[in-house]
Amino acid sequence: MKRALITGITGQDGSYLAERLLTEGTAVFGLVRRGSTDGLQRIAHLTDDITLLDGDLLDAGSLLRAVEESQPSEVYNLAAQSFVGRSWREPVHTAEVTGLGALRMLEAVRFAAPDAHVYQASTSEMYGGTKGRVTASGPFHPRSPYGSAKLFAHASAVNYRESYDMHVSCGILFNHESPRRGMEFVTKKVARAAARIKAGLDHTVALGNLDARRDWGWAPDFVDAMVSMVRAERPEDYVIGTGVSHSVRDLCEAAFRAVDLDWQEHVVVDQGLLRPADVDVLVGDYSRVEEALGWRPTVTFDEMVSRMVQHEVAALRGA
Ligand code: NAP
Ligand code: GDD
Repeated sequence: MKRALITGITGQDGSYLAERLLTEGTAVFGLVRRGSTDGLQRIAHLTDDITLLDGDLLDAGSLLRAVEESQPSEVYNLAAQSFVGRSWREPVHTAEVTGLGALRMLEAVRFAAPDAHVYQASTSEMYGGTKGRVTASGPFHPRSPYGSAKLFAHASAVNYRESYDMHVSCGILFNHESPRRGMEFVTKKVARAAARIKAGLDHTVALGNLDARRDWGWAPDFVDAMVSMVRAERPEDYVIGTGVSHSVRDLCEAAFRAVDLDWQEHVVVDQGLLRPADVDVLVGDYSRVEEALGWRPTVTFDEMVSRMVQHEVAALRGA
């Protein structure tokens, strides 16, 4: 029986990954840090079927113990301070968790389960200001403390593969969304605002950079790519995206259209929400992973936005 240890199991991707692995009979272990409020909402429906282990990416000993206790055949390192905007306000914390935390996890696996197949959650933010064509080997030019921390984690993962012959693969994932997305991310913020404005609870929503373009995909699709990479014969890094980009303005248009509203009457720009540096355009070419592992996205941008808005509408109705 396969045994998977997931860090970040309480997050968007971790919750879908746990569901996916349980469905196929994998024993699932999840690393959970202490919080003063219940942080298990996304996995509340799964807690009877998974084993939760105490631990924090800031605490090397807790990671070693979690790996020893779970004896995983697969490790998915998804935990991170993942909000780019916050990373300017907490750059050192972001580097500690998102950067060094990944290295601590690699060390724990090297000591306690060196044959496990490892997935490291890398990101398109590592490309940042790079112009022109990008591949899984770069060029990288991070534009945020988060991007820099992730690039360190990525380089460490590649280094462990090359130094210790470990089966470590990095997924360089472009943005992926779902109703389980954190409240601070722009898709969730806009979907929620559209539903609340339609219900008469608010009238406007304040946003920052409307010109930024992102390649937004569907989170469960991207989780499938992680599993394919971990189960591949050879460890390798892959770019995972949809190949299509849209602007934040397009996102607003689609979300408000889903509830028959005109976004221009409800979106205001707040200069305070602009980032010290932003990434203008991100778009990911998935042709390599399609060729090697047969992965391709299944949900379009419009469908993804519509699902997120309809979820918010239903949540407001108490459904
Ligand atoms: P998310 O919803 O923000 O989840 C982050 C997870 O990390 C949560 O479970 C959180 O636990 C955990 N965590 C944070 N700090 C921790 C610490 N010190 N020790 C242990 N756990 C900690 O992120 P996501 O969207 O699912 O993304 C998953 C991973 O993929 C992240 O590494 C992210 O950076 C990366 N990524 C995401 C995207 C995307 O578009 N979603 C794209 C590329 C890469 P709590 O619940 O306790 O906060
Ligand atoms: N969050 C947010 N809130 N973003 C806004 C807003 C706003 O009010 N207004 C405009 N934006 C713009 C941001 O400036 C950015 O250009 C874009 O919307 C997307 O922002 P986020 O949804 O916060 O995502 P992100 O692209 O910065 O980061 C996400 O994707 C990365 C992969 O490219 C996160 O999931 C990262 O963890 C992930 O690595």
